Amino acid sequence: MKIITDISELRENLSQEQKIAFVPTMGNLHSGHLALIDQANQLADCVIVSIFVNRLQFLPHEDFNRYPRTFEEDCNALSAQNVKIVFAPDEKILFPTPQEFLLALPPVADILEGKFRPGFFRGVATIVLKLFNIIQPEFAIFGKKDYQQLHIVRKMVQQLNLPVEIIANETVRAADGLALSSRNQYLDEAQRSEACRLYQTLLRIKQKINSGSKNFQTLQESAISNLEQHGWKVDYISIHQRSTLLFAQASDQDLVVLGAAWLNNTRLIDNLEI
Ligand code: PAJ
Repeated sequence: MKIITDISELRENLSQEQKIAFVPTMGNLHSGHLALIDQANQLADCVIVSIFVNRLQFLPHEDFNRYPRTFEEDCNALSAQNVKIVFAPDEKILFPTPQEFLLALPPVADILEGKFRPGFFRGVATIVLKLFNIIQPEFAIFGKKDYQQLHIVRKMVQQLNLPVEIIANETVRAADGLALSSRNQYLDEAQRSEACRLYQTLLRIKQKINSGSKNFQTLQESAISNLEQHGWKVDYISIHQRSTLLFAQASDQDLVVLGAAWLNNTRLIDNLEI
């Protein structure tokens, strides 16, 4: 496994490769990331993982500075995963001058996460586009854990005619249902045992819809008030169409319920397809 920080060295190494499967990450790798790498290994001989904590997708008050950086452990985990190259540029490599060219995104980037983290998806899309241009992979693998991110990356690839196939991987969860996330380690013991309530709440909504409930507004409101009773501050619990991510109507079929909520200073997100 090679660790490469420089773009020209990366391109030189990639020039021999026929088919590349790429997994973009911000590091602090857990089994959710490793599942994406397993998937990448099934798609191509050459698997590349990027590790880059992307400043463009953090708001000024967010956790950019305290985001967990565990480069050595990450590389140890990756070297056991048949990864050919870890691309770990520093900011001077990806932003040698301030990033002034930024993508303009469609309205779907302004709902859900975008409503609570304005500019977040612009930052994600811009860095993903840069990484795609640098690496030019045949496949790129993203987790359903970040459902709206996956949706927006897919739309970007379609509308900008990018020659890459986006592959989605299921959310990897802890035994109690909590979606694995680098941010889970901000939780203390009591918060960690409370944290699975977000998943359970989404699961209850899924079960109710599957057994015929159509009043989405009521389902959302009662889920929010249940979480609030247990000390959560809820950004949203919201039922959407899978294909467009627009707010769902009672007649819609393929749905997804998405949620984001705070336990003290830690913001957790999750979703379930229905
Ligand atoms: P990061 O949060 O490190 O996640 C990297 C990839 O791992 C994303 O595609 C995410 O959806 C996936 N992932 C995270 N937790 C997962 C879980 N429990 N199960 C399955 N997949 C999971 O997402 C980002 O980084 C950044 O926004 C990035 C795309 C790298 C752009 O900076």
